[in-house]
Amino acid sequence: MSCTLARPPVAGTPQLDAEVPQSASAQLRSNSVHDMYSDPLLQRWTATRQRIREAAVRYGRNPENIGLVAVSKGQPTEKLRRIAEAGQRDFGENYLQEALAKMRELADLDLTWHFIGQIQSNKTRPIAEYFQWVHTVDRERIAIRLNDQRPHHAPPLNVCIEVLLEDEPGKGGVRESELLPLAQRIRELPRLRLRGLMCIPPTRETFEEQLALFRRLADHLQALNAQGFELDTLSMGMSSDIEAAIAAGATWVRVGTAIFGARS
Ligand SMILES: Cc1ncc(COP(=O)(O)O)c(C=O)c1O
Repeated sequence: MSCTLARPPVAGTPQLDAEVPQSASAQLRSNSVHDMYSDPLLQRWTATRQRIREAAVRYGRNPENIGLVAVSKGQPTEKLRRIAEAGQRDFGENYLQEALAKMRELADLDLTWHFIGQIQSNKTRPIAEYFQWVHTVDRERIAIRLNDQRPHHAPPLNVCIEVLLEDEPGKGGVRESELLPLAQRIRELPRLRLRGLMCIPPTRETFEEQLALFRRLADHLQALNAQGFELDTLSMGMSSDIEAAIAAGATWVRVGTAIFGARS
């Protein structure tokens, strides 16, 4: 299984509009219009993409600069294939064994795999070998292992640091006060490419509350860039808060339920 870099890097701008997802027309290439209208999964996927575009327009963002990671944990491979054939390229997985099985079954498709689950240190090798992105690096030990285990034939692994915005039991993420030293450490690791920050904020009911949390992450990213980092990625926003995340500058939204329906 080869590890290809998701996309060529684009110089970071202050607005973080640096990711360039494939065009909508390319994404629609292989599915008939009939499938789009009759398959509930494709309808939800299309509606999610529409939500992203509308939010981008509303908040003055370039829709091309907001990527969609389809969070496919617990979903059968057949569903991933259906949206992949409609043009979905990026998939996010939380559990390693499940992800590896899906990668094998979908090896005929050109997909980009994002690891978005908590990382146990004894599981880093296959993550370093088979994923193109890791969104949930939150401690030095994990970063060092991913760096050491990234195969030399592959490009540096794209990583985001997961930031814990509010203390919640069992949640991963580095505390805000420890973010800078971790980022400095990761920057020294040649087989990792530090792209940006990620968060899974606690549930908030109102748009304003969601926005305030996402802005905190965006502020951290700006502060790091002011210190000489060149980060271009904010991985934030899930089914219930896509709009607030985009308003605050998300470059990846990670969406499961809105695409696949409620998890059982
Ligand atoms: C890290 C992460 N991001 C995004 C999602 C997607 O959440 P939702 O199903 O609310 O879209 C999940 C779901 O478990 C997740 O674990």
